[in-house]
Amino acid sequence: MSPALPVAVVISGRGSNMEAIARAAQNADSRYRVVRVIADRPTAGGLVRAASLGVPTSVVPVKEFADRDAFEAALARELEASGASLIVLAGFMRILSPGFVQRFEGRLLNIHPSLLPAYKGLDTHARVLAAGDAHHGASVHFVTAELDGGPVVMQGRLKVRANDTAEAISARVHALEHIIYPHVCSLIAAGRIQWKQGTVYFDDEPLAGPLIEENDAAA
Ligand code: GRF
Repeated sequence: MSPALPVAVVISGRGSNMEAIARAAQNADSRYRVVRVIADRPTAGGLVRAASLGVPTSVVPVKEFADRDAFEAALARELEASGASLIVLAGFMRILSPGFVQRFEGRLLNIHPSLLPAYKGLDTHARVLAAGDAHHGASVHFVTAELDGGPVVMQGRLKVRANDTAEAISARVHALEHIIYPHVCSLIAAGRIQWKQGTVYFDDEPLAGPLIEENDAAA
């Protein structure tokens, strides 16, 4: 079997997705390992979680750079130094420039709390409730220059419940995220999901639509 795929996770906040990914990597049969967790601020709660899992961490403190170019150059150096082949954005609250995205094209994943292409951007749970949608969920996608616009690989879907609140549905979406994000990392590490010149392949066939994980029981 090929060596475990080295993965770097980039965070800004609490890092619950990072934790799910890192914990799954510690299973004996995991095909990937988390080689580094990078935060854009020293206060990111996920840094403590990562350290407690024995994962090396670093901070590229966005506030200390003169502009986005300088920050991204430092982030890129840190990612290259980590040796990661796959870069996973997990609650990373910055928009990356087209140049940065191009540099890591096909190696950069993000998770977004909606059934993309619906509800790009912020406040997705409140917007779903305000619209009265029947379904909601989360999407794992390759990152392209278009915000929340790259090819979606996998979605976790759930039903909106009567009297749902943004907090309640957010918790259920998070629980789904913690299933689908490690799953996508595993599928990429196993070579079952591949990016070739802008097209996503699943088991050597172009992926026509996202893989779906239905889970209405998620807490
Ligand atoms: C998740 O809801 C994810 O979809 C979004 O940011 C949140 C990150 O949560 N991109 P956490 O830091 O992983 O707990």
